[in-house]
Amino acid sequence: MEMKTNTHRPIDTAVQDAINDQIQAEFQSAYIYLAMSAKFEHMSLNGFAHWLRLQWQEETAHAMKFYEFLLQRDGVVELKELERPAVSFSSPLEAFEQVLEHEQYITSRINNLYDLATEKRDYPLQNLLQWFIDEQVEEEDSARSVIDSLKLIGDAGPNLFLLDRELGARQPE
Ligand SMILES: [Fe+2]
Ligand SMILES: [Fe+2]
Repeated sequence: MEMKTNTHRPIDTAVQDAINDQIQAEFQSAYIYLAMSAKFEHMSLNGFAHWLRLQWQEETAHAMKFYEFLLQRDGVVELKELERPAVSFSSPLEAFEQVLEHEQYITSRINNLYDLATEKRDYPLQNLLQWFIDEQVEEEDSARSVIDSLKLIGDAGPNLFLLDRELGARQPE
């Protein structure tokens, strides 16, 4: 009897499509945060701008994690269109509420992707997504902590200057 070895199992098409959509979503996140960063720079809140620029970098790294994964799995990367980031806010608090809302949306996407990976019994993708599940907890938590600070100090005045300084000290991960 010949022993069956299943060393090469091609990536499922539905899984591949979903990963390509997620690459797009991560790049879109990066784009949104970069637009927000520019707006903060105009408001002379350079610390907020710095924080968001690091977030732009992180989101790009997230997109590239999925990109590398797909290539490693012998999948086909398909880069998609990005939308013009419709960034509009009138205060730092409003901006960070938008960041939190966006990250909650990304979390729901990651969860859906995990459901698909489970359904398709794609174990390597489940493993990769464990990292993203933890990362989303961190992303939501860090947005929430800026919101909490802004609520505490009232979104203006000398304390905003101090918070700007604090956010300006953020280091890349
Ligand atoms: Fe992300
Ligand atoms: Fe992060």
